[in-house]
Amino acid sequence: MEIRENVSLKRLNSFGIDVSANYFVETHSLEDVRAVIAEGKFNGLPKLVLGGGSNILLRNNFNGVVLKVAFKGISILREDVDHVYLKIGAGENWHSLVMHCVANNWGGIENLSLIPGNVGAAPMQNIGAYGVELKEVFVELEAIDLGSGELTRFSKHDCQFGYRDSVFKNELRDTYMLSAITLRLNKTHVVNTSYGAIEDELAAMQIGAVDIKAVSQAVINIRSSKLPDPAVLGNAGSFFKNPILLAEDFEQLKSEHPDIVSYGAENGIKVAAGWLVDQCGWKGKRSGSAGVHEKHALVLANYGNASGDEVFNLSEEILNSVRSKFGVTLEREVNIV
Ligand code: EPU
Repeated sequence: MEIRENVSLKRLNSFGIDVSANYFVETHSLEDVRAVIAEGKFNGLPKLVLGGGSNILLRNNFNGVVLKVAFKGISILREDVDHVYLKIGAGENWHSLVMHCVANNWGGIENLSLIPGNVGAAPMQNIGAYGVELKEVFVELEAIDLGSGELTRFSKHDCQFGYRDSVFKNELRDTYMLSAITLRLNKTHVVNTSYGAIEDELAAMQIGAVDIKAVSQAVINIRSSKLPDPAVLGNAGSFFKNPILLAEDFEQLKSEHPDIVSYGAENGIKVAAGWLVDQCGWKGKRSGSAGVHEKHALVLANYGNASGDEVFNLSEEILNSVRSKFGVTLEREVNIV
């Protein structure tokens, strides 16, 4: 285990916020994590588990130890006529995994193409896009207790997946490092083109048979056309979640704002937060070096050398204006540290 001191995190968070950590360790194995837990000089210090850094806003220097998840490997656990069960190290890049599956003709995650970040973050927030959520292909995961160093298995049920949510964002927040996940992928495919934009993009692509490769390409095209590439412009995708309203509250809002964009959800009506923020006039607005992307009001970006607080304060202003115009309180999707 190599311990590094005063390490810049600028290149390790997709917002590109220039902060540093007192201690930094890359963890490749269970033994590495156990060595961090046993290390005397880390006693009592806060620990931050860092995956791909694509869903995090760092407001300050981190006075503790950062554990960068570097567990690698993709292996077939078993397969049958219809399915393949893949075990994937949490430190693998998510989009590379999707490309690997599409190339092998394993279906189920093609709609989740081009989502930034690493595999370990996928169950954390039950990543979802274009009509598919991770939980649909998820089997189980392995996680390391950051207190005891014990390796524990969590079934799909144990993970308590919800919309951009899991037990690891709630009761078990900051207690485990996810080290590997198992997915069940399909050999015979039912493509999901329920999301309107996919249908339109597939039509524009003018391909005959729609297979998982075509769906993946359609998603890549849509995402690249409206979501900024974090490698070019610092951002963390959607900054807020789409709020879920009670039916009666939604009806009230709809009567006042007939154009409101909404979708049915299991426990109410989901409203497009991007629409709410856009209606408050935020698209393309800047506040110092932080700003709201010109193509998507849900995406906050670092247009220069923004500090974490600049981005956070902008998000507060947005929250307040949406609350006063619509009476809806947005929730941040990005983890604030
Ligand atoms: N809209 C506006 N103005 C905007 C942006 C959006 O009016 O500036 C309206 C449009 O009418 C649009 C609707 O909002 O049709 C929904 O926008 P979009 O299709 O871009 O989807 P979203 O609800 O904003 C969610 C996820 C995305 C995911 C897409 C596609 C959340 C918080 N975000 O965005 O996930 O890629 O659906 O499925 O659920 C992410 O989590 O980082 C992310 C990008």
